[in-house]
Amino acid sequence: MTIRLKKDVITVYKRLKQKKSECVASELADELDIDYIVLMSAVNDLKDESLASFKEIEIDKINLNEEGLSYLDKGLPERQLLDIMLQKEVKEITVEELLEESPFEKKLFYIALSNMKKNRWVAQSKASGERKIFLIEEQFPETLEESFLKKFEKDNQLDYSSLSKEELKAYNILNKRKLLERERKTQRVIFPTEKGKKTKLSAIKELTQVSKITSEMLSSNTWQNYELKPFDVSKPGPLSKVGKIHPVINLINEIREIFISLGFTEIRGPIVESAFFNFDALFQPQDHPAREMHDTFYLNNPKTAKLPEKDRVQALKETHENGGESGSLGWGYDWDIDIAKKTLLRTHTTATTIRRLAEFYRNNDVPPIKVFSIDRVFRNEKVDKSHLAEFTQIEGIVIGERVTLCDLIGVITEFYRKIGFKKVITRPGFFPYTEPSMEIAVYYEKLGEWLEMGGSGIFRPEVTYPWGIKNPTRVLAWGLGLERLAMLKFGRTDIRDLYINPIKWLREESY
Ligand code: PHE
Repeated sequence: MTIRLKKDVITVYKRLKQKKSECVASELADELDIDYIVLMSAVNDLKDESLASFKEIEIDKINLNEEGLSYLDKGLPERQLLDIMLQKEVKEITVEELLEESPFEKKLFYIALSNMKKNRWVAQSKASGERKIFLIEEQFPETLEESFLKKFEKDNQLDYSSLSKEELKAYNILNKRKLLERERKTQRVIFPTEKGKKTKLSAIKELTQVSKITSEMLSSNTWQNYELKPFDVSKPGPLSKVGKIHPVINLINEIREIFISLGFTEIRGPIVESAFFNFDALFQPQDHPAREMHDTFYLNNPKTAKLPEKDRVQALKETHENGGESGSLGWGYDWDIDIAKKTLLRTHTTATTIRRLAEFYRNNDVPPIKVFSIDRVFRNEKVDKSHLAEFTQIEGIVIGERVTLCDLIGVITEFYRKIGFKKVITRPGFFPYTEPSMEIAVYYEKLGEWLEMGGSGIFRPEVTYPWGIKNPTRVLAWGLGLERLAMLKFGRTDIRDLYINPIKWLREESY
């Protein structure tokens, strides 16, 4: 019967058979120049076929410590001292002089000296009154300790149990001199089983790994000669370059769902708007600087817009001129209907929510009314990494009796919380049509900064009275930037990326 094994498993098996004896796993891995893990996985494959196995044994490893290693390099201190005497070509020397010549401090010097004496290289005498050292030999062959020390030359590691009697003696001496370390380690020993020994190499065939089985393999009945490569489930799959919904559209849909879940209804209004709804109805005087050309795109075609019911236009005119019913003094100028009829690209979707107030009047609606709009606005702005001339606002109003600034803060913070931003602050702001007014900022962790997101407030009586919305019914309103939010959501640092559409980003954005 043939046994199929992977290529590297065969290599390991062949080597095991050659060796005929047990071998240490780490040594075998070195020999075969493969990773220890690869070797052990091959051994496990062999184990599955009962061709080889392994056992774990505890071994005592010994090695030189730092001091021991330095002697391996320079020689033991006694050899160094001897060399000094030989170099000076003196047969006798006083202890003091030798100490002076030696690189050792006193303690190590006396250790070296006593070892010289023990080796019978020198003798010491006080006969002349001075302590003197005499060379008593001609030859100074390698000592037991020295030859043992050399055993660590190749690899600073020996197996304690493999030491000979002589080596054990030397070990004990060097160990006493505190030049060695000893450590208990677990070693894996691999060996072929009986079956492994008996099996002929001719019975082993290479097993090829494939990633799929083809119809040819099935029809020729060779599929059993292959092994299917296991799937690596941690690897990312290929990116499928399919058509997707633009991430900004997905974000808009998510925002839609949030407002709907909070009980709001979506409204939409015209992009080509009248100055009446964009400005006049917001109690912005007709000479207000924001109306001028540098902010607003006015249109020539159509040149004029249709205004709402005459009586409402009249009510608005009076509000501007003298406050009308609102209790305000108004602006005190002659309101010009022709300026209100001018057409423009809406500069904010607040125009759309005002249209909803007009409808409120027309339909005799009953509060509470909660509507939102997510739509495009246009401003004559220089485009840069945080400004667009065309952008989207998330606008909304709540018409309700006795609604307060707290309700407004509640709706706005709840919206940001749901979209994933927990840190929201509101701070005093100014808009000509709200009182009080608030600016909204959210905390962007990535930049460690508060980012301005938009404005909000309670519509002034001058804005709501012309549409029959009177105290204690009030209108909470807000207008927030969508693209700013999208930048935060998608971690972009250039707002233009959202519409220039870097293809790599569009493909990878999983949102
Ligand atoms: N319309 C304001 C803007 O475009 C935002 C805003 C809306 C402020 C509603 C207050 C109330 O910046």
